[in-house]
This record gives sequence, C-alpha cells and structure tokens, in this order.
Amino acid sequence: MTKLHVVDHPLVAHKLTQMRRVETPSAQFRQLLTEISLLLTYEVTRDLALKKVRITTPLTESEQPELVEEPVVVSILRAGNGLLDGVLQVIPSARVGHIGLYRDHDTLEAVEYYCKFPSLNGQTVIVVDPMLATGNSAAAALDRVKVDRPGTVRYLCLLAAPEGVAALQSAHPDVAIWTAAVDERLNEVGYIVPGLGDAGDRIFGTT
Ligand code: URA
Repeated sequence: MTKLHVVDHPLVAHKLTQMRRVETPSAQFRQLLTEISLLLTYEVTRDLALKKVRITTPLTESEQPELVEEPVVVSILRAGNGLLDGVLQVIPSARVGHIGLYRDHDTLEAVEYYCKFPSLNGQTVIVVDPMLATGNSAAAALDRVKVDRPGTVRYLCLLAAPEGVAALQSAHPDVAIWTAAVDERLNEVGYIVPGLGDAGDRIFGTT
C-alpha cells in the first residue's frame, strides 16, 4: 500500500494558508510555492542513500557522507514546474524530465502530448505536481515513468484530495506520496475543496 506522508511543519502550514487566500497575487503565490517546495523536498529526500567518501578538509583527511546518487525529478506540465523550481534549489544538479498530459473530453482519459526524460533506469525518481486531485494524470504519468524502469518512484505534491490519494494508492501501491495537506474532498468539476483554485493559473497568472 502506498505510504502517505503529510508534512507536518508550522512553516509549511503557514505558507499553504497564504497560498489558499484568493487575494494572494501570482508573484507572491509563486514565491510561496518555491519556499514550500524547499521544505517538502527536505522531507521527500530524507532517506536517500549515502556512501562514505574520503575528502581533505583544510585541516586533515576524513571520511564523510555523500549521496550515492542524486534523484531524477519529473515535472508534470505545467503546474509541476512551479514545484520544480524549489526542488532544484535544493538538488541543483538533479536531472529533470517533463511530461505533458491533457484530458480527452470524450473518454476522460489522460492523453500524453509531450514527454522528454533523461535515463530513469534504476534511478530514484521524484514526480512532482502541486495538486493531486482525481489522481488520473498522476497515475498516467507514473505509468509512463515506469516504462523506463526506474529504481524507486516517489510522488510529491502540495495538496491532495482523499479521492486522489485513494486512486494513486490503488493504481501505484509501490509509490509513496508526500504532501503538505490532504483537503476535504473534490467538487463536482474535480477541484480540491477548500483547495487553492487552479494551481497552474495561479502560478502563471492565467486566470
Ligand atoms: N488542479 C488544480 O490546479 N486545482 C485543483 O483544485 C484540482 C486540480
């Protein structure tokens, strides 16, 4: 069963509340998203593997820990790029993939329109998208990521609906989820309530 990590931190809670406010302008929303994603990245990378390396400090030689490998980050377009900025501030040399999906109006299935990944083979992959709503695009993105045979896959979002968590847990029981909060529900048109509105529109000012 997918493990769900709700990041419980006063700064995360405070920043998320500012993002939820309807009057928060795009520039501030973007800044808050970057700040919050730094904190979320700290949690999603908490158990990355370390190895001992021999280094020379100004004083002596010493064995110290270093990451075995940096994770690959995959952003689900377009709102994923809002989270990506903060993730890359913490892991600046991470390689990055992008995937774009849209929902077919007739079938309601997620259809891929763009996909460019670095090699994922055997890698730890962190898939990022701020809103885990129905879980359809998250599940489709994870389906595509798994085609490239990654080692482990983690899913990082800002806000989740219980329905999206359940859908992802059912479709990808091996993928752990990190989020700042799980809200009450989805409304009839698939928005998270109370939520923060359309994350892409708020990040890019397209409302
Ligand atoms: N996507 C969003 O941007 N917001 C929601 O509430 C749901 C999906």
